[in-house]
Amino acid sequence: MKMHLDEKIWLTISFGMIMAFMLVTGYQTFALEMGPPSHMETIDPQKVDETAPFDKPGVYQIGENEYEVVMTLEVFAFNPGNIEVPAGSKVHFTMTSKDVVHGFEVAGTNLNAMVMPGQIQKITQTFDEPGEYLVLCNEYCGAGHQLMATTITVK
Ligand code: CUA
Repeated sequence: MKMHLDEKIWLTISFGMIMAFMLVTGYQTFALEMGPPSHMETIDPQKVDETAPFDKPGVYQIGENEYEVVMTLEVFAFNPGNIEVPAGSKVHFTMTSKDVVHGFEVAGTNLNAMVMPGQIQKITQTFDEPGEYLVLCNEYCGAGHQLMATTITVK
C-alpha cells in the first residue's frame, strides 16, 4: 500500500495526540489522584432494596437542625422526591443508584455529585436560603433522562 506523505504526517499527528491525551488522563488519575475515591463505601447494586439504610429511603431528623436524606436513584426518579426541610438545616445526603450512573445536581448550590451503582455517595449541604431548589440528573441515563428531576423545598 502506498501512502501519501500528507497522510503519514496526519496519521502520526493524530496517533501522537491520542497518546498525549492518554498520558494526561493517566497522570491526572494516578499522580494527581483525580480518579473516583477508592475508599468509597460499596453496596451490592442488585440488593439495594434489602440493604440498610437504602431499604428505607426517606428524610430523617438526626439533630436539632440536621437531617439525613437516604436516597435511591433509578431510571428516572429520585426516591424520596419533593423533599422539605426547614431553613438553616444541615442536610447529609446518602445516595446510591439502583441501575445506571445518575447525577445529583441541585441548581443554585454547589451540590453536584455522580451517583453510581455499587457505590455509596455522601454529600452534605446547609440550606440557609428558603426557596424551592430544582434537583436534576446531569448524567445521561436513558430515554427519560430529561424528565429526571425533583425539588428540595426549604422553608
Ligand atoms: Cu438519571 Cu439522567
